[in-house]
Amino acid sequence: MIRICSTEDVPKGAAISADVDGTQIALVHGEDDNFYAVHDECSHAAVALSEGEVEGCTLECWLHGSRFDLRTGEPTGLPATEPVPVYPVEVRDGDIYVSLTPSNGVTR
Ligand code: FES
Repeated sequence: MIRICSTEDVPKGAAISADVDGTQIALVHGEDDNFYAVHDECSHAAVALSEGEVEGCTLECWLHGSRFDLRTGEPTGLPATEPVPVYPVEVRDGDIYVSLTPSNGVTR
């Protein structure tokens, strides 16, 4: 697990982008108060998901509006049809750690 930042760096309902050993991740503080990490690229076109809106435990792509479930990586609506990689997140002593082995088996 790789330390990304402090929990205070990601306000509730926000997403940040982080480079983790060359992999771009979107780190999200969901409205359910959990932290999530997904690959920071929409599965529909090459745009950053971290620039989209967080709603509940989903992240919306700003370009065409597909919404990704941050627990499974699955899009809940078109035009995206493919899931994005989801990375395991752990919070320890106020710091956020991420593993680059996708928990949903999706590679990019
Ligand atoms: S680029 Fe994300 S839905 Fe089209």
